[in-house]
Amino acid sequence: MPRILIVYDTTEGQTRKIAQRMGDAVAGAGHQVELNDIRKLPSGLSVDAFDAAIVGASIHLGKHSKRFTEFVARHRTGLEKIPSAFFSVSLSAAGMEEERTEAKKYVTDLLKQTGWHPRMTATFGGGLLYREYWFLKRWMMKKIAKDGGKDTDTSKNHIYTDWDAVGRFVVDFLDRCLKSAEGHQ
Ligand SMILES: Cc1cc2nc3c(=O)[nH]c(=O)nc-3n(C[C@H](O)[C@H](O)[C@H](O)COP(=O)(O)O)c2cc1C
Repeated sequence: MPRILIVYDTTEGQTRKIAQRMGDAVAGAGHQVELNDIRKLPSGLSVDAFDAAIVGASIHLGKHSKRFTEFVARHRTGLEKIPSAFFSVSLSAAGMEEERTEAKKYVTDLLKQTGWHPRMTATFGGGLLYREYWFLKRWMMKKIAKDGGKDTDTSKNHIYTDWDAVGRFVVDFLDRCLKSAEGHQ
């Protein structure tokens, strides 16, 4: 049974939810899945011990975390040996065309920085989790949301993730992995 590794980096929890949704889809397709928070990786993790890997992180203040960039740089050789995919979670990904271009730039920046060539990349809208932010962060995010035409009602959280797109991404990736595995037989 193919073993798929999923590693995610999250600050407020939305990327974890997306990764969990991916994990459920992978398991639902009959594959074995290992879901890991980047902060709690098993020691001596060997990425290429898996048949494929999906790795994702969120954007804060225009970039992926240093922790995430370092993870990719450290495991790049392993990630290049197996089919791998990268997803990036941001508010820009759920915006108008200009913002979506910005979200794609976050992806290319990370790939340039690390030299990683994943088989697939995707950007997904994240969340405005006003109820989880402390007051200064809530105030700042409300201002950013207002400028970006997003929800400013801070009495609740707002989720911009397209769950169907997340599901399609997993199906496409597994499809490509299986096809490339057949090609190697
Ligand atoms: C302090 C802060 C800064 C953010 N900066 C950006 C940004 O520069 N660009 C963007 O598109 N989204 C930005 N976001 C939105 C996050 O990417 C979004 O909330 C995402 O869902 C966070 O994912 P996480 O909960 O997995 O960390 C920011 C969010 C916060 C709280």
